[in-house]
Amino acid sequence: MIDLKGRSAVVTGSARGIGKAIAQKLVSFGASVVISDINADAAKAAAAEITAGGGKAIAVAGDISKADQAEALVEACVKEYGKIDILVNNAGITKDTLLLRMKPEQWDAVIAVNLTGTFYCAQAAFKQMFKQKSGAIVNISSIAGENGNVGQANYSASKAGVIGLTKTIALEGSSRGIRCNAIAPGFVKTDMTDAIPEKIRLEIAGMIPLGRAGLPEDIANGVAFLVSDMASFITAHVLDINGGGFMPGKAAKKE
Ligand code: NAI
Repeated sequence: MIDLKGRSAVVTGSARGIGKAIAQKLVSFGASVVISDINADAAKAAAAEITAGGGKAIAVAGDISKADQAEALVEACVKEYGKIDILVNNAGITKDTLLLRMKPEQWDAVIAVNLTGTFYCAQAAFKQMFKQKSGAIVNISSIAGENGNVGQANYSASKAGVIGLTKTIALEGSSRGIRCNAIAPGFVKTDMTDAIPEKIRLEIAGMIPLGRAGLPEDIANGVAFLVSDMASFITAHVLDINGGGFMPGKAAKKE
């Protein structure tokens, strides 16, 4: 049984999409959460939804690509709940275009949020978890970080970087009871992917061995397991939640 009673969690980018589903799932297992997002109003609304349902949540607005704002998130969690047991680095953005057309600003923006922002939040939480001698971190990577993806040089590089970061945090945290894992979602139906033209969305879903797009809850289930005591001997792992979309050894499709 997954039991997160008494645990406090920060979930970045949790005003909508996968992050919101993760926050709701952690609350459903008894955790208290910090809903954090660059979109202040949406974060407030997501936290209000949880409290209206009887759960514990506060909203903290912030941009994770700024070190001081990442630190403020963790501080808010410690102030409200006395500690931070769980950090889920979920906030992420895309700025897709082919390599030949990619502008330095598109590269920099994606790396700044997806990789540097994940580092800032992880470092801030790690400091506190190090003192506590316990903690669980889950970083949301992507199948694109494992396979690469046409039009996503910036995004796939950031998500591959997140996997390397995850493994190093796991190694440095192991003697202090801190576990760190990553999840590699495939195509998940959210506002982010709703921006992709329908024809391409159907094509992508058709290539997934399990025959459907992922749902935010599919990812949230994996996070809940990884941060729980049921996963107490699991660290430095990349959990593929992509319907079989990532199979090492399977021939990659050419553009
Ligand atoms: P989304 O765009 O629906 O939600 C992302 C949230 O992050 C938004 O609420 C946004 O305001 C927030 N955010 C963006 N920049 C931020 C910043 N600098 N600081 C704080 N918050 C910020 O995205 P979705 O689809 O829910 O994705 C969540 C995570 O899952 C991302 O890391 C994404 O890369 C990853 N992912 C998503 C997949 C998909 O198919 N939807 C597939 C693989 C990975």
